[in-house]
Amino acid sequence: KKHIDEVEKFSATTKEDIENFRIKYLGSKGLLKEFFSEFKNVPNDQKKEFGQTINALKTAAEEKVAALKEGVESKEESKGVYGDLSRPGEPLELGSRHPISIVKNRIIEIFSRIGFNVSEGPEIEDDWHNFTALNLPEYHPARDMQDTFFVEKDPDVLLRTHTSSVQVRYMENNKPPIRTISPGRVYRNEAISARSHCFFHQVEGLYVDKGVSFADLKQTLQYFTTEMFGKSEIRLRPSYFPFTEPSAEVDVYWGLETETDYKMTKGTGWLEIMGCGMVDPNVLENCGIDATEYSGFAFGMGIDRIALLLHQIPDIRMFSENDIRFLEQFKSAY
Ligand code: PHE
Repeated sequence: KKHIDEVEKFSATTKEDIENFRIKYLGSKGLLKEFFSEFKNVPNDQKKEFGQTINALKTAAEEKVAALKEGVESKEESKGVYGDLSRPGEPLELGSRHPISIVKNRIIEIFSRIGFNVSEGPEIEDDWHNFTALNLPEYHPARDMQDTFFVEKDPDVLLRTHTSSVQVRYMENNKPPIRTISPGRVYRNEAISARSHCFFHQVEGLYVDKGVSFADLKQTLQYFTTEMFGKSEIRLRPSYFPFTEPSAEVDVYWGLETETDYKMTKGTGWLEIMGCGMVDPNVLENCGIDATEYSGFAFGMGIDRIALLLHQIPDIRMFSENDIRFLEQFKSAY
């Protein structure tokens, strides 16, 4: 009877306490087991009362265990499904795209609208794809224009200095008509400053088909700059690249009074944004394309430089410092 009292008063909130309680009374070496085996030694006239009492104790213990278990489980359940409804919410931290990616994606989008696909290639290149196929044979002085990081010498393995290497690979593996742009990271052994870095990003474009002319190139560039900067003018200045002939440098005039996607400083005048030209027939032939049948144009621009101009960023090194205070400013850009 004392035990029944004890059982009825018992309370526990952890599974462990309940289990210990169950073992104490109902376990295979528990109190009830003991009482039941005691039963045969009880004098006959007390058997009835004794039996009723231990049966009552057994029922009480079983009911207690079931009730406590249910309590604990229902608590756990509500925690699992709803959590603690009184806790303050945790703010969702949204990341932001890197400004280089924002500008790169925008360039890709503009060219994809006129049928250019995207091609990519390795950052570690061989001499053929970065130089020789592009009409820059060994000992050609123009190789000095590209301050190259060499990984190995003879045969040369290097960090690509431009994504023109991707265009070579593309021409080797695809037949004209070709319309492709090649975005990617490139490397040059230059002193690091606010205006130049030893790595940066390019998008180069290539169009090869029958009868492609310089007029097609100029119109394509005009289309691009209008889409990229709003109403704008371009100017081509004669230049030199070993892989194009004729070659030109493209300037864009930023000072126009227009609505643009970006807030640009007005009146900044002509700014150089890319190099371009008609693909040299030697390059086409090096890549297995018949230059008597096909012609093409190519262009290349620095993504970093355009991102600096568009967002008025004062220092190119900010792109690779991973300072959250800088990166967070582009949250609303795209
Ligand atoms: N590959 C040149 C560079 O890296 C850019 C360019 C591409 C120029 C295509 C002309 C034609 O500077």
